[in-house]
Amino acid sequence: MMLCWILISLFVGFLKAQENPDVIYAQVGGTVTLPRKDIKAENVYVNWYRGNNESITIARNPQSGIIRGKDTKTHIDLSQDFSLKISPVQESDFEIWRCEQYVLTSNYKKTYKLYHVTIPKVPAVMAGESLYLECQIESSPVIPTVTWIPPKNSDCNQINLKGEKIKVNSVSRCHSGVWTCKLEYMKKTYHTEATTTVYVIDLPSSPNPIYKSSSEVKIPCSLSSNIPWSILNETGLIGGSWSFTPLNDPKSTHSFLKLDVDSVFRWIKIPDTVSPVKAEEIKLKDHDLSINLPVSENIRGLYTCDLTFSRKTLSTKVQVEVLKVSSSRGSPVYEGQSVNLTCTLGHQLTSDFEMKWNCSPLSSCSSFKLNSSNLFIPEVKLEHRGKYTCELWKNGVNLTSADLFLKTEKAPVDIWLYVAISSGVVVFILLLVVFIMCIRRYRQMMMYRRRKTKFCCCKNPQQNQKGFYKT
Ligand SMILES: *[C@@H]1O[C@H](CO)[C@@H](O)[C@H](O)[C@H]1NC(C)=O
Ligand SMILES: *[C@@H]1O[C@H](CO)[C@@H](O)[C@H](O)[C@H]1NC(C)=O
Ligand SMILES: *[C@@H]1O[C@H](CO)[C@@H](O)[C@H](O)[C@H]1NC(C)=O
Ligand SMILES: *[C@@H]1O[C@H](CO)[C@@H](O)[C@H](O)[C@H]1NC(C)=O
Ligand SMILES: *[C@@H]1O[C@H](CO)[C@@H](O)[C@H](O)[C@H]1NC(C)=O
Repeated sequence: MMLCWILISLFVGFLKAQENPDVIYAQVGGTVTLPRKDIKAENVYVNWYRGNNESITIARNPQSGIIRGKDTKTHIDLSQDFSLKISPVQESDFEIWRCEQYVLTSNYKKTYKLYHVTIPKVPAVMAGESLYLECQIESSPVIPTVTWIPPKNSDCNQINLKGEKIKVNSVSRCHSGVWTCKLEYMKKTYHTEATTTVYVIDLPSSPNPIYKSSSEVKIPCSLSSNIPWSILNETGLIGGSWSFTPLNDPKSTHSFLKLDVDSVFRWIKIPDTVSPVKAEEIKLKDHDLSINLPVSENIRGLYTCDLTFSRKTLSTKVQVEVLKVSSSRGSPVYEGQSVNLTCTLGHQLTSDFEMKWNCSPLSSCSSFKLNSSNLFIPEVKLEHRGKYTCELWKNGVNLTSADLFLKTEKAPVDIWLYVAISSGVVVFILLLVVFIMCIRRYRQMMMYRRRKTKFCCCKNPQQNQKGFYKT
């Protein structure tokens, strides 16, 4: 009977020693923590062993602190509470781990076994396509529950998905980023998180149109997430282009830049095209395909950025509107002249737009005739010199403002000079005419007088008569 009891207790002891190890899932390259059974004692000895090896891998004792085994790799460490931490997990770590603790005469033993959780690499997906994710779980004595946690992107409300294999229809930038496969097992005692990065290739549209009046404008074309060029290359990027449809000539759409994907990614100018870009090439940073243009009336129009992949072309369009104030007289304007200032985007505006003028030389523009886009100054005065600003508003939003500096001047001196010289010449000619007339008059008078004296002096008119009729 006694022997029987001894045998039973030995058997139970044997069973205890052979107790199944706790299952712990880990991802190669990830981090895993094997928890220490929490024994709250200051003078606890904690020894961690790998497999059946009798030599300690890492240990803690109350006297000398943490002790490492002879050739313990640096990726194995103890956490704050002396749990075993492996990071990054390597293929060789998938085995049994043992923890032995001693407090005075009591001892506590626990074993763990690592199992694989693997997420096969997913290729980059184009926006609108479906995303397939799978969390592969090595079979073990436990059956974990699996939850997929989507990336946390701003303005995206995503829900967790249950199951090892999931499918997400019609992906967008919201699905780009780090996806987490969360396993919970042993009645949620343990959980493991495995991760993978998903790239969604998308050219999202930006605020459109862009209103500008001066300096430079950035025409945006940017991938929704920070995707390395190598991933784009792997996804079959063939090329890309920027094309332009001028506002005043909608039929002449043409490409002016093309994407060079051969060595370094860059935009290169297409030869013999009318291009708003001066540079021959534009180097690209990260996922940004935007270009900068100097603002002028010539850049008004529609810009299209295309990225061509072997299975799809992505494109985004940006309308660029340039506000300009022009004077009907050019500059300067002379005193007394009339002038029209016109503020325009180069096309008719719908009624939800509004122009607000600000005439800074005067307290208000109300003394001038103005309709929405024109300001008419009937008679320019010197004090009208100054800055005329026009603001473009739509539905209470200030879109942009443009200004013009009106120079006013007195009518130029040369005109007066011409006037003076010509009037001088006229006066001179008049004087000359008067003088000549006087002289002629005087001569006539003299002649008349001479004749009169002759007649008067003649004493014998008959003789004289004879003299007159000489034959
Ligand atoms: C036990 O571990 C030590 C170092 O940690 C190593 O040198 C030895 O080969 C291991 N023994 C076995 C049987 O694996
Ligand atoms: C893209 O891939 C092609 C081959 O598929 C290679 O020749 C080219 O150098 C790669 N470009 C970059 C920028 O990695
Ligand atoms: C300015 O506009 C008015 C109409 O608002 C027009 O009668 C006038 O001829 C224009 N003047 C100039 C210089 O263009
Ligand atoms: C404003 O006046 C100009 C000429 O003075 C004219 O061409 C334009 O149509 C007018 N606009 C409105 C909205 O009345
Ligand atoms: C409207 O915007 C322009 C710049 O685009 C700014 O200079 C101007 O002060 C703004 N006007 C108002 C009333 O906010």
